[in-house]
Amino acid sequence: MTDKLLIRYSYNIAANDFIAAGKGSSSIKNTLKSMGIDASTIRRIAIISYEAEINLVIHSYGGMLHCDLYENKIDIITEDKGPGIENIDLALTEGYSTATESVRELGFGAGMGLPNMKKYSDDFDIASSREGTFIKITVLLQEV
Ligand SMILES: Nc1ncnc2c1ncn2[C@@H]1O[C@H](COP(=O)(O)OP(=O)(O)OP(=O)(O)O)[C@@H](O)[C@H]1O
Ligand SMILES: [Mg+2]
Repeated sequence: MTDKLLIRYSYNIAANDFIAAGKGSSSIKNTLKSMGIDASTIRRIAIISYEAEINLVIHSYGGMLHCDLYENKIDIITEDKGPGIENIDLALTEGYSTATESVRELGFGAGMGLPNMKKYSDDFDIASSREGTFIKITVLLQEV
């Protein structure tokens, strides 16, 4: 029964909203803390969900961030409304970024978000077209 979805937390992420940016991932982190999930797993999920959320704010036309909780794993999922990623291999390359100058002035655009999301995941899935990008990242929970 370990692959049964226990609960889904969902957050609407608006494009270019730098005031709300990070609230979804911060709420996920606090929820997992209150559940007593181990600190290193929470840290990985916090990095993954934050980078995923910020990418929706900066690069997409808006979308959803989901945190799906299972008995033995957590999936962080984003689905956005475009414009999509033309070359996924390139986007996953460390240091590659299309962030504008004004976004770089806010401290983003190192081109490390997607590489780090992949690095901290146990499973990484991405699909993209001009209609939007779908990312599903799995982090396995430790046996207690
Ligand atoms: N949801 C998305 N929709 C469209 N393009 C995206 C999306 N996420 C990432 N990208 C593209 O992939 C590139 C690399 O993303 P990545 O998160 O690694 O770097 P970044 O967001 O530019 O900088 P950083 O995450 O270090 O602040 C982006 O610059 C952008 O071109
Ligand atoms: Mg990024």
